[in-house]
This record gives sequence, structure tokens and C-alpha cells, in this order.
Amino acid sequence: MNRPIYFLILATLAVATAAAAPDTDQARVRVDAAAPGPKIDRNIFGQFAEHLGHGVYEGIWVGPDSKIPNTRGIRNDVVGALKALKVPNVRWPGGCFADEYHWRNGIGPAGKRPATLNPNWGGVIEPNSFGTHEFFDFLQQIGAEAYLSINVGSGTPAEAADWLEYMTTPQPTALAQQRAANGHPAPFGVSFLGIGNESWGCGGSMTPDFYVSQLKIYSRYPRNYNTAHPMKRIAVGPDGADTSYTEAVMNAWKHKTWAWDIEGISLHYYTVGKWPPSFKAQGFGEDEYATLIGHTLRMEELLRTHESVMDKYDPEKKIALAVDEWGAWLAPTPGSDPGFLEQQNSQRDALIAALNLDMFMRHAARVRMANIAQMVNVLQAMIFTRAEKMVLTPTYHVFRMYAPFQDATFMPVSVEAAPFERGDLKLPGVDAIAARDAAGVIHVALTNLHPSRSARVELEIAGTRTKRASGETLTAPRIDSVNTFDAPDTVAPRPFTGKVSGGKAVLTLAPASVTVVTLE
Ligand code: AHR
Repeated sequence: MNRPIYFLILATLAVATAAAAPDTDQARVRVDAAAPGPKIDRNIFGQFAEHLGHGVYEGIWVGPDSKIPNTRGIRNDVVGALKALKVPNVRWPGGCFADEYHWRNGIGPAGKRPATLNPNWGGVIEPNSFGTHEFFDFLQQIGAEAYLSINVGSGTPAEAADWLEYMTTPQPTALAQQRAANGHPAPFGVSFLGIGNESWGCGGSMTPDFYVSQLKIYSRYPRNYNTAHPMKRIAVGPDGADTSYTEAVMNAWKHKTWAWDIEGISLHYYTVGKWPPSFKAQGFGEDEYATLIGHTLRMEELLRTHESVMDKYDPEKKIALAVDEWGAWLAPTPGSDPGFLEQQNSQRDALIAALNLDMFMRHAARVRMANIAQMVNVLQAMIFTRAEKMVLTPTYHVFRMYAPFQDATFMPVSVEAAPFERGDLKLPGVDAIAARDAAGVIHVALTNLHPSRSARVELEIAGTRTKRASGETLTAPRIDSVNTFDAPDTVAPRPFTGKVSGGKAVLTLAPASVTVVTLE
């Protein structure tokens, strides 16, 4: 019910009443306002900031003595840009980094913190200048909640339990007094706790059964003592299509005792195409574009696969599926350190972002959290920084345009559009999602996947007459157009107004574009 239905277009589609331009396809989108679906959890729009390359250091943290304008060491320009996204939560400190992170290295006076190593990501020195207090300061500055990953791979339950006590207890324990001495007498609020990261891989190469035995221990002892701020625990879940972790964790949860529990299970899936990542970030053609978009759309099948396993053990959908790493993982920027995972971000990647967010929203009953990898300077980033300069990526613009969908109510949509075909690939031509926000306003996001054909979309809300459709559209001169420090606005949203005819909106979507409109 909550999936769009793609119909192959007929040569004489009824909506083709107006004379169509030869490079324009006709499409029809119908929103069913009478059958509202689940709430779209705002945490689907979460971010991920790992100690990796320039993701944290230089991207977020420059230190209080930097010439780059900052507040207590955190870049003002980056904070300002992120505020506009209404970031709901930030996952930190990793990633693979989390399973080698020892939190005590990241507290205490600046200058007294030990230099350690970051063996996963370039083997560079980790100065530990950005630690627990700096992370919560950053969250407070951007208005987001904490999603912490604890070290299950190389840490101990006692170390993780101490970290949670340090952060969350309001009682005057020795750890709470240390927290106060470090500048934060009040407890922090930890909204989400990731119990390990990719424990099937960089997080310890654990079999599903071994991980489950660790999960039972780590979901019990690292306790949240801040009763004013509830915390959800997220277990490690599947790597792509492999259901072995999903089965093991969900089966264990179904038969759990009073002594442990979880509230979510994670899924990691990158749009990578092939391994090692070698799809070009720029300078690709329509064939490569189509292949990568096809890879991204596999997320739909993965969500269905893991949901069907979860439904077996949890038909009431108590456990959330948290897609806490997703996004395009491309060939590294030439000349960059390959361990830093730097890649450009094009209009194609904006579409990848929109299509994934659409899929998560269609599965909102189960997918209640997602975290794009990653926030700044790493993989499919929102923002690039270089010294005092900052540039917003096409992906940033999609997250900003999609902000009205946070906590809105999903509305079923049906789409009739010509498919986008390339070789053996047959992809939907137009993707659409609709939701009603708390004020009753209906928002519709439409993605035209075709790289060289416009789509003339007749948009209708069943049973109502539309008077106005307006919003923003993200288009670009080419599918591989990017923003750079010298040309930061090559890909930028611009105002968009649809025509209205007979109570329906008529929207002309540019090739390879993302458009978000509100309907009146
Ligand atoms: O996002 C980069 C890395 O990808 C993360 O550290 C890891 O969890 C995943 O394999």
C-alpha cells in the first residue's frame, strides 16, 4: 500500500493533453490524502561524523585558537550551514574508528590529552582534541541529538559502562565529579547507543552468535542514568543483503530475558557499484550514471528483505531498522589520501540522496533512523571545507529541501511515468513521495531520474483541488556538475512554481532534477 506503483507509460497517456516537447515525457502523480501512513521519523535525516580524514578535524573542529571563526573550537560556518538542515542526530565517533576509540583519551584539559593513532583511516595521529564534551557542544550548537557508538571490538563492557556513567549520571559519583570538573556538571543526554559497528567486519569479525553474546552484555551494563533523557540501543545488523545478523539478533531479541533489550538494529549499504570503490565522482557519462542509480535503488530490495526477517520475530514493529550508514562511495579525489575517503559530490549524488530518502520514507513504519555517510569532507558529504572556505554540496541542498518531511505523516503516492531505460536496466522515470506536516501542509518531492529528458508531471491530490504548487528545484547543467570552492553555486536550488489547471498542478521537471513543492 505504501509503495508507489510504476506503470509503463502508454503511447497515448491521457495526461498528454498539452502539446508535449519532443524531449519531454508525460507523467502522472496521484497523492492519496485519505489514507495517511506512518509518521516519518525525523531521525531518518540523521548524519554521521567519524574521526576519518578531515571529517572532524578541519571539517568541524579547528580549535579555539584558530583564525577560522569558531565557537569554542567548532567552525561557525559549518554550524550555520548544518542548522539549516535541522539535523536530528549525529552518529559519532565511528564507524570503524569507534571500535578502537577509548573515551578517556578524549576528556580533560586541552594539551593534556594523549596523541593516539587512527589505524583504520590513514594511520594518522589522533590528537583527541575533539572528545565527549566537544561532541556534545557541537550537538548543542547545531540542535541535534547524540547517537554514540561504543567500543565493542577492542574495549570492555566496564569501559563502555564507565563512559555512560560519566555522561549520564546526575548523582555525585566519582565519574560525575570528573565530568563536572571538565566543565559539565549537568548530565548529558544520549539519545541512541550503537552497540558496536560492523561487528561482522572491522568491528571484530564476529560470527552472528558471538556478536549476540556480546550484545547481551553490552546492552545491559552501559546504562543510561539520565532518566529525563531516554536512550535507545541499536544492535549491529546486516551487511547489505546478508540476513545472518538480522536473523540472529532478532531471534535472540524475541527470546530475550528481562536482563537485556534493544530498540533497533542497523543496516549498512553503500552505493558503491564495485569494490574497491571506483565509480567516478565526476567525468562520468549517462551509462555509468544509470548503473550507479540502479545500484542505489537496490536499497528497496534490501529494506524488504530485512523487514521480512524482522516481521517474523517482531510483527508489531517494536524494533526499528536504522540504516546508519548509507550513501555513494566513489573513487577518491585524485591526489587525496585514499585513507581519507574524499570524493566530489555531483548532481547525480543529489539524486542518490533523494531516492534513498524516498525509500526510507516509504518504509517509515520500520525504518525510523538513517545516517548518511558522512557529514563533512568524507564520502557523500553535505559540506566541504578547505582552510577558511566552505562549500555546500548538491547533497546538502537535498537534505535542506527535504527538511519539511521530518516528522510529517506519510501519504501514499502512485506514479505513472515512462521508465528510464539504458541497456538492460529499466529504472523508474519519476520517483515521488508525499507527506502532510503538523500544520496540515502537504509536501511533495519529485525526482526526474532521466538524465536528458524533462518530465511534464500532472500532480493531483485525490478528492481535492490544488490552487498553487510552489517550492524549489535542484537542477544542474550536467549530471556530473559539482560545486567547488571557486564556483560554489553551480548546483543550487532555485524557486519553482507549477502551473495549475483544473484543480491539478502541472510541473515540468528538468532532466536529472529534484523538486520539492508544497501544495495549497
Ligand atoms: O563510512 C566509512 C566506513 O564504512 C565506516 O567506518 C565503516 O563502518 C564502514 O565500513
